[in-house]
Amino acid sequence: MKEKILNLKEQAIKEIRQSNSEKDLNDIRVKYLGKKGELTLILKGMGTLLPEERPAVGSLVNEVREKIETELKLKTNDFKEQELQNKLKNENIDITLPSKRTKLGSIHPITQIIEDVKEIFLGMGYEIADGPEIELAKYNFDKLNTPEDHPARDIQDTFYITEDILLRSQTSPIQARVMETKQPPIKIICPGAVYRSDSVDATHSPVFHQVEGLVVDKNISMADLKGTLEMFAKKCLGEKTKIRFRPHHFPFTEPSAEADVSCFVCGGKGCRVCKGEGWIELLGCGMVHPKVLINCGIDPNEYTGFAFGFGVERIAMAKFGIDDLRLLYENDIRFLKQF
Ligand code: DAH
Repeated sequence: MKEKILNLKEQAIKEIRQSNSEKDLNDIRVKYLGKKGELTLILKGMGTLLPEERPAVGSLVNEVREKIETELKLKTNDFKEQELQNKLKNENIDITLPSKRTKLGSIHPITQIIEDVKEIFLGMGYEIADGPEIELAKYNFDKLNTPEDHPARDIQDTFYITEDILLRSQTSPIQARVMETKQPPIKIICPGAVYRSDSVDATHSPVFHQVEGLVVDKNISMADLKGTLEMFAKKCLGEKTKIRFRPHHFPFTEPSAEADVSCFVCGGKGCRVCKGEGWIELLGCGMVHPKVLINCGIDPNEYTGFAFGFGVERIAMAKFGIDDLRLLYENDIRFLKQF
């Protein structure tokens, strides 16, 4: 009997070691240890043994059972390990393959100009102010000395929401809002979108962007205005840029002027960008009209100020050599990625 058991053990171990799969192992388990397995049958047949033989045979069977189980486990682990290795081998990733390129966007030319302008004026001690795009006619016109019958108030130029509420046609109303809430010294710029009922063409859009500037303090003169704008023009468009002032009219400034800069492409000789003029019109400006100061609660006998306003698109077009305003709004990536 003992020999039979030891033979079974040898045989089982041999089969286990030669097995080729987990399924084989399972069959072996059933064959020896299953309900009708060979080792189980021996246990069941113990009744035929002499009582004194039983304990020794019993413990031998248990020993063999344990040994077979250990062998099964070892071999199972072998198969699992092999499976893992195969998987790793077959699933390996070729890290030398080029990846899909992620497309990085670029900053829109209008945003670029606004950021540049802010940087320049922050460097000169200005603060950035903001105001609503849906504005009261009171701020867009009345307080800025633009009376009811002024042509700029014409229904054809301005988007009115009601008689008193409109989409601001300029950033100048922020001047009035700032002066109303703050006594001088005031030194601000305010960039933002403005709206006019123009049809779209190469130089017009019903929405565009302006930057407004306002300085109010004691003894502010036209010389401060000229110096500031000259500095701005050089920093924004290049150190060689020259600036010139032409008399003009705005209701909210007196005296008023328009400023041109020498063409930074040709340096003033005349080219495609400046349309042969040598100069590019840059902005409107002037000394804040005393009536505007009074309208906003500032004493014109004590304080004076200057103001200016310019179109951001115009600067972007000149600086980047863009000849059609519409390109700035079409969001064509082929165009935008150049900047
Ligand atoms: N608001 C004017 C416009 O839209 C531009 C302007 C001119 C602003 C003179 C000013 C200024 O502050 O002083 O055409």
